[in-house]
Amino acid sequence: METNKPTSILFVCLGNICRSPAAEAIFNALIEQQGLKDHYLVDSAGMGGWHAGQRSDRRMISHATARGLRMDHLARQVKVSDFERFDIILAMDDSNYDELQALAPTVASSLKIHRMVAYSQRYTADHIPDPYYSGSEGFELVLDLLEDSCEGLLSQIR
Ligand code: 4NP
Repeated sequence: METNKPTSILFVCLGNICRSPAAEAIFNALIEQQGLKDHYLVDSAGMGGWHAGQRSDRRMISHATARGLRMDHLARQVKVSDFERFDIILAMDDSNYDELQALAPTVASSLKIHRMVAYSQRYTADHIPDPYYSGSEGFELVLDLLEDSCEGLLSQIR
């Protein structure tokens, strides 16, 4: 019997403790709500490895939890094998995008890389801003942008 392979999605930011694990949590919540869990494999990673093995930033977890999201990801750095393993790779900002393009081992894998904001439907932001040195409003903005972009992404690929 033929089995349908899940579509694999990797969200990428700089540290993998704020934006990309939040995107992972939001996308997971959406596919759970829509009964699509078996169709997607979702993960996140960071361009840097400084926080590898750590839970997400507690401010991000707190803002996400207030929206009913569950964040249990442990940070890890992007590796070259990710370009083979994942079908779609989403960069949070231009710097992530450029570094991913530089790391992509093949033309086919470089075509898997997209900007997260390209899927935004309600905002005109040109990137998902790094909230690390911001206040609460920075974390709320990240969640607003990611909820919108994740909805756009899922509606485009489902
Ligand atoms: P993220 O935020 O890329 O959204 O996870 C950051 C977290 C940590 C650092 C930078 C950005 N840092 O430099 O440690």
